[in-house]
Amino acid sequence: MDIIKVTNSQEGGKVAFNLMKQALKEGARTFGLATGSSPISLYEELVASELDFSDCRSINLDEYVGLGPDDDQSYAYFMNQHLFAHKPFKESFLPNGLTEDLDAELLRYDALLEQYPIDFQILGIGTNGHIGFNEPGTPIDTKTQQVALTEETIQANARFFETPNQVPRSAISMGISSIMAAKTVVLLAYGAQKADAVYGMVRGEVTTALPASVLQNHPRVYLIVDEAAASRL
Ligand code: GLP
Repeated sequence: MDIIKVTNSQEGGKVAFNLMKQALKEGARTFGLATGSSPISLYEELVASELDFSDCRSINLDEYVGLGPDDDQSYAYFMNQHLFAHKPFKESFLPNGLTEDLDAELLRYDALLEQYPIDFQILGIGTNGHIGFNEPGTPIDTKTQQVALTEETIQANARFFETPNQVPRSAISMGISSIMAAKTVVLLAYGAQKADAVYGMVRGEVTTALPASVLQNHPRVYLIVDEAAASRL
């Protein structure tokens, strides 16, 4: 794992941007994308850049069950707002949070991931070490699944909603095995609230109790962290 310490998320966004630019130059065409506050500075760099993704695909990690692209709390809305409206890809995929057939939707997403293996995966990390929405306890061989969000995640994500009650209780998430199959993984973590999760991910044992720790077994991971998130390393 390459650990890259940065002074703030702006600098982290630039570092991630350069890794993405290099991957694109080397032939990457399928990009796994993430939501949350951590990738925003990267998306700002991408939007401001000359990079052209019209020949590329994006596949997002996750989506809340019950929210569609018109809902401003959905991850589809977030991606349009921060990236796709300004920097379109040839095709962009997210799980359909409004599906009426959840089982079929999970299979559709896995088929997509099989058809288009991810070259370059952007990740954030939850305060409890989750990646995507794969919460503690998730087996490492999971494929796309419906997940019940933990109380910690509901509380952490409540800052984006008016009240914690509005946070959906479940989500569709790409599985850990699909994340591990990405050729390159870039995980972004900023702020003191991530310090324990980052410590567990890098120095702890590999355990399903802290899903990000499985990345110790991935051959090509870049961890971009600020001082506060790296404070326990
Ligand atoms: C959510 C997302 C994760 C993201 C995490 C951290 O739970 N499902 O993909 O990594 O939030 O978000 P933030 O970057 O805002 O701290």
